[in-house]
Amino acid sequence: MTTTVTLTGAGGQIGYALLFRIAAGDMLGPDEKVRLRLLEIPAGLAAAEGAALELQDGAFGLLEHVEVTDDPAVGFDGADHALLVGARPRGPGMERGDLLAANGSIFGPQGSAIAAHAAAGVRVTVVGNPANTNALIAAASADGVPAERFSALTRLDENRARGQLAAALDAPVAEIAGVTIWGNHSATQFPDVAHATVAGRPVWEALAEQTGDVRTWLESTFIPRVAKRGAEIIQVRGSSSVASAANATIDHVRDWALGTGERRTSAAVVSHGEYGVPEGLISSFPVQSAEGEWRIVEGLDPDDWAREHIDRSVAELVEERDAVRALGLI
Ligand code: NAD
Ligand code: LMR
Repeated sequence: MTTTVTLTGAGGQIGYALLFRIAAGDMLGPDEKVRLRLLEIPAGLAAAEGAALELQDGAFGLLEHVEVTDDPAVGFDGADHALLVGARPRGPGMERGDLLAANGSIFGPQGSAIAAHAAAGVRVTVVGNPANTNALIAAASADGVPAERFSALTRLDENRARGQLAAALDAPVAEIAGVTIWGNHSATQFPDVAHATVAGRPVWEALAEQTGDVRTWLESTFIPRVAKRGAEIIQVRGSSSVASAANATIDHVRDWALGTGERRTSAAVVSHGEYGVPEGLISSFPVQSAEGEWRIVEGLDPDDWAREHIDRSVAELVEERDAVRALGLI
């Protein structure tokens, strides 16, 4: 079988880190052939064309075809998976929401182009920030494409949370499971360890031995570390995360396409009112995937403290939705 993957921002940093892993089969598996469509704006075309030359030089057995274009009609033609990465990254001192005015206008036209040209079963993953609300804009403009086909990346936050827990508990990261990111991919997000385990044992129990007062450690150390990790990366390396963002995108799409089984992960998907999140918002939830569909895992029963954190992040999503409404973007 061959899957058509459209990547916007293919000439950018994350695009360059993604392309070779997609071509190597990391995203869709070792048996799935791939047709790549690299969509850029004119200023980014040369970089995307350079990446296409290198893809040819990689002699990837799974890669059937590469097309570089600045025309969305061509770029999204027949797309089974659309990865919407193309957008401006934030710089030092900015919050991701500050990018709404600069980036929001990209996603409406792309949503319309997806509706007009992509494959009937297209799945859309939004990475460009502010990712949740950009996904909302794209979904609102994609007439006839169900909102369930749009998701935004919070897997990077989940991976960061697992990395922090592994370090705190001196455990291999592969043994940390069941972390949930709730809400927005922003500093208000809630990385939730209530149901997380380390080698099958509740993380909360293991943390109690290490930290004494778990909730204080979560509030003062863990939550801010995870929620502000993007800003920390920008401060330390001078520009926003690239390889870890590409890696999380690969993880997210692989889970969506190939399924999670019983494993839970996090993704920002459309709410139907689950956990009291207003219908229509694209919010991060605990999810599983089967047969190409995300399913929100219900019944995790957040306590009052968790509820407060979730509500704060969801309130920010409501504000962002209202702001893009006021800008006429939805
Ligand atoms: P970059 O500036 O290196 O690349 C962005 C590319 O997008 C550029 O080549 C640009 O020409 C292209 N582009 C701009 N508008 C476009 C359009 N309308 N159509 C197609 N291409 C377009 O930036 P980057 O480091 O690759 O980051 C890309 C985005 O991903 C940023 O918004 C960044 O904040 C976001 N990001 C999100 C996460 C996440 O976890 N959700 C993580 C890291 C970065
Ligand atoms: C990240 O989380 O690293 C990205 O969203 C980039 C950013 O602006 O933080």
